[in-house]
Amino acid sequence: MPMSDSSLVEVVCDNHVAHITINRPAARNALSFPTLLRLREILAELASRKDVWAVSITGAEDKAFCAGADLKERRDMNEQQVVEFVKNIRATMSDIANLPQPTLAIINGHAFGGGCELALACDLRIMSSQALIGLTETSLAIIPGAGGCVRLPRLVGVAKAKEMVLLSKRMPASEALECGLVNQVADSGDLTESATAIIEQLLANGPLALQAAKAAIDLGNDLAIDDALEQEAECYSRIIPTRDRLEALAAFAEKRKPRFKGE
Ligand code: COA
Repeated sequence: MPMSDSSLVEVVCDNHVAHITINRPAARNALSFPTLLRLREILAELASRKDVWAVSITGAEDKAFCAGADLKERRDMNEQQVVEFVKNIRATMSDIANLPQPTLAIINGHAFGGGCELALACDLRIMSSQALIGLTETSLAIIPGAGGCVRLPRLVGVAKAKEMVLLSKRMPASEALECGLVNQVADSGDLTESATAIIEQLLANGPLALQAAKAAIDLGNDLAIDDALEQEAECYSRIIPTRDRLEALAAFAEKRKPRFKGE
């Protein structure tokens, strides 16, 4: 794999949170092949970091969260290269979805195509009231190929997903909130503060419990109920031997806030 350009995607780890920023504002944070490679490097590293308890993803500047696949790069690709790109962008979104830690998409500007799929791969989404979101690929005579056709209907239902994809809708934040596509909307001036509040709420909870709960929900989502319940039991068994569980019980008895260590 070629070396990646580290400036394309930046990551800052602070107080148990990894803040990822797609950093191509001049191209509206579009996902070029080198951008995907850099993002995948970061995700691979974060997946094994025990000290990282939550991950946020946003776009540089506010004009776009991410304008999707890089359409200029695409023009020079032959069919085989397009196949290779789509394989990589799909795998990138799966890397995000498969991160053990909870993830928050901070949709600070427009999110179209792969930008919307990036948000869909996260666990939680907060969106600027000024932004638009949509899987607009059919307007470009292609289809969402990085999980959009799969993750969107699971989130908002088949009818709404078909409306969005077949009409290539650029949906306002208020409608995205109404149909459950995003969890929260904030004015752009308040977005950082509101996102920080969500992250602080995540950090107030047991980090290993967050990972086990995320796994239980994701693993159970596509299973028959008895199999899903077995998965939940397996995820529960993982947190029984943790010190954080005992710390929470001690803190409750002592009427204080727990001090979790992710152990
Ligand atoms: N790929 C490559 N470059 C992109 C891009 C993309 N997906 N989206 C925007 N850009 C580039 C533009 O070509 C332009 O480059 P230029 O300055 O060299 O002309 C620059 O980013 C700014 O774009 P512009 O459209 O002028 O910015 P805007 O703020 O007015 O609008 C968007 C932003 C995101 C609404 C608009 O650029 C857009 O609709 N982009 C396409 C989104 C899309 O269809 N994505 C689906 C991909 S499958």
